[in-house]
Amino acid sequence: MTDLTYSEEFKYTSTNPYHDKLEEFKGFVYRDHEAEGLKGKWNSEVFEREAPLCLEIGTGYGHFMMEYSEKNPEVNFIGLDYRFKRSFSLAKKLSTHPTKNFKYLRAKGERVHFLFNESELDRMFYFFPDPWPKARHQKKRLFQAAFLDQAYKVLKPGGKIFIKTDHDGYADWMIEVMDNHEQFEVVMATKDLRAEHPEHFLAAFTTKFEKIFLKQGIKIKAFELVSKKKD
Ligand SMILES: C[S@@+](CC[C@H](N)C(=O)[O-])C[C@H]1O[C@@H](n2cnc3c(N)ncnc32)[C@H](O)[C@@H]1O
Repeated sequence: MTDLTYSEEFKYTSTNPYHDKLEEFKGFVYRDHEAEGLKGKWNSEVFEREAPLCLEIGTGYGHFMMEYSEKNPEVNFIGLDYRFKRSFSLAKKLSTHPTKNFKYLRAKGERVHFLFNESELDRMFYFFPDPWPKARHQKKRLFQAAFLDQAYKVLKPGGKIFIKTDHDGYADWMIEVMDNHEQFEVVMATKDLRAEHPEHFLAAFTTKFEKIFLKQGIKIKAFELVSKKKD
C-alpha cells in the first residue's frame, strides 16, 4: 500500500476557503488533524455520554445522518466527508437541525484508525461511495483490504458495517475484497436490496444519491458485515 493517506506521515493541507469557513461551526464540526486529536475521546469528552458510537463515511448532503440520528436518539453519530463546499453546506443545515446527537468531520475515510481507538466504534455506514470506474483509478476506491483491516481494528467485537452501492463493478470488487478477508462475516449480501430484503433496515431509507439511481431503474447492491473480533 503506497497511498500516503494511510500513513503516520500524511498531512492534511488546504487552501480551500471553505476549510476556514467551517470554523463557524466549531461546536460540532472538527477538521482534519483537529478531529484526529479526539481519537479515543469521542464518547467521554466530545459527546460527554456513553452511547453506541456510529460513523458514516461520505455523508454527502447528510440525509441519512439526519434521519438516523433523529430516529435513534440513543446513539452518538459522527458523519464524515472530505469535500469542502459540501461539508460547509451540510454543516449549515446541521446547525439548525433539532437533533444534537451528532458531530461532523471534514476528514478522509482512509484515516479511520487515526480518528478512532481500537474498538471505539459500534457501527459504520458507507453509502453510494464514488465508484472510480476506470481501471487506472480503482486504487482510489476506499473499500480495499487496508481499509477493512483498519475498520476491524476500530470496530468493537460484533461491530457492523452497512454498505449500499449502485455500481455493479464496485459491488463485485467489494465481494472479492470480503472473500479474501477473514475478519468479518458477511451476514447479508444482495444485488437487489428492495426485491430480496425488503424488511432490512437498509431498505427503509433512501439517500440523496440513491433517489437518483432508483429513478434510473438501477438495482441497489447492499452488504451487512459483522466483525468476528472476540471480547
Ligand atoms: C456519491 S456521494 C454519496 C453521498 C451520500 N452517501 C448519498 O448516498 O447521498 C459520495 C460522497 O463520498 C465522499 N467521499 C468520497 N471519498 C471519500 C473519502 N475517501 N473520505 C471521505 N469522504 C469521501 C464524497 O465527497 C461524496 O460526498
